[in-house]
Amino acid sequence: MKKVAVVGCTGAVGMTMVQLLEDTEYEVVCMASERSAGKRLKAGSRDYLIEAFSVEGCAACDIVFLCVSGTFALEYGERLAENAYVIDNSSAFRYHQEIPLLVPPINGQRYKGEKLIANPNCSSAIALMVLGPLHQAFGLDSVIISTYQAASGAGQPAMLELREKARSFSDYGDHDDSEQFAHNLAFNVIPQVDSFEANGYTREEMKVVWELRKVLDEPVLAISTTAVRVPTLRSHAESLSLRFKKPIQSLEQVRTLLRVAPGVEVLDEPSRGVYPMPMTSTYKHAVEVGRIRYNLIYGEHGLDLFISGDQLLRGAALNAFEIMQLITP
Ligand SMILES: NC(=O)c1ccc[n+]([C@@H]2O[C@H](COP(=O)([O-])OP(=O)(O)OC[C@H]3O[C@@H](n4cnc5c(N)ncnc54)[C@H](OP(=O)(O)O)[C@@H]3O)[C@@H](O)[C@H]2O)c1
Repeated sequence: MKKVAVVGCTGAVGMTMVQLLEDTEYEVVCMASERSAGKRLKAGSRDYLIEAFSVEGCAACDIVFLCVSGTFALEYGERLAENAYVIDNSSAFRYHQEIPLLVPPINGQRYKGEKLIANPNCSSAIALMVLGPLHQAFGLDSVIISTYQAASGAGQPAMLELREKARSFSDYGDHDDSEQFAHNLAFNVIPQVDSFEANGYTREEMKVVWELRKVLDEPVLAISTTAVRVPTLRSHAESLSLRFKKPIQSLEQVRTLLRVAPGVEVLDEPSRGVYPMPMTSTYKHAVEVGRIRYNLIYGEHGLDLFISGDQLLRGAALNAFEIMQLITP
């Protein structure tokens, strides 16, 4: 039986990882900081004793999922990979050329036996499930993405703050005292996720640009993004405006292609109110895609789509799980 460590098991991604492993044959070791050591973590029918993170504890495992910060991953990632396969959820290694950044159904063939693997940003991972098959069929020429990102994208404490602020909200003009976001998120929309870069884009926006290019192996693909935090708890939604090299014969051709794409569910009956939403995509393994239409500017060379995917599951833990299945068959 393979032994798997989840480091950061009390966090938003770590907890989802532990839940995902619940019904599998893996032996799971739950690790977090000293603050959590000795406490218990319940996942379905299983009840784990949380251990304090240690390099030695991880060395006794076959696979280590790092669900902690980038700083933590930079400090320990490479050392841990001397003894185990390490799948890192942070952005610490994603842009290192020699470290694979994997979305298995899209670029799994890129894997060449490395011990340290990077898991993509959640917005990137969700978009790639849909962009991968479309790129293969029609050849992407340019990509414009606007994201609608849930509170849990900023971690477990951020989700708790949104719940608390929603409960205590009285009116606009309330004191703006968020500890987790740039401003209070309840009943608000914030056009800032992460810090600003010199070019006026946020780091979150640039992550999507760099990661899409790396996973699709298109180093100069034209991409522009706007990342927005919205007051949902879980699941990121994204609007995609795509221009292709090849013309698209019909929208039915697109729906048919996406219906058979792994990890994608087509929900596209707008007249019946059927389209992707966080309300329906949360806890789902597939990314929902709908509102499929020709882009009014690019004509038959362009598509507009709306997608929604559980960023803790499809965008993080499930992708990490699929990486594990790929690298340790
Ligand atoms: N949230 C998302 O949607 C998402 C999606 C994709 C990737 N990511 C990335 O995944 C990582 C985790 O994010 P998150 O949202 O799950 O964060 P989170 O909810 O804030 O959880 C952080 C986890 O790290 C643990 N931790 C902190 N310091 C530690 C230490 N010294 N030793 C061991 N464990 C320590 C915490 O344990 P304690 O409870 O003991 O402090 C907690 O379990 C981040 O790099 C993030 O960028 C997040």
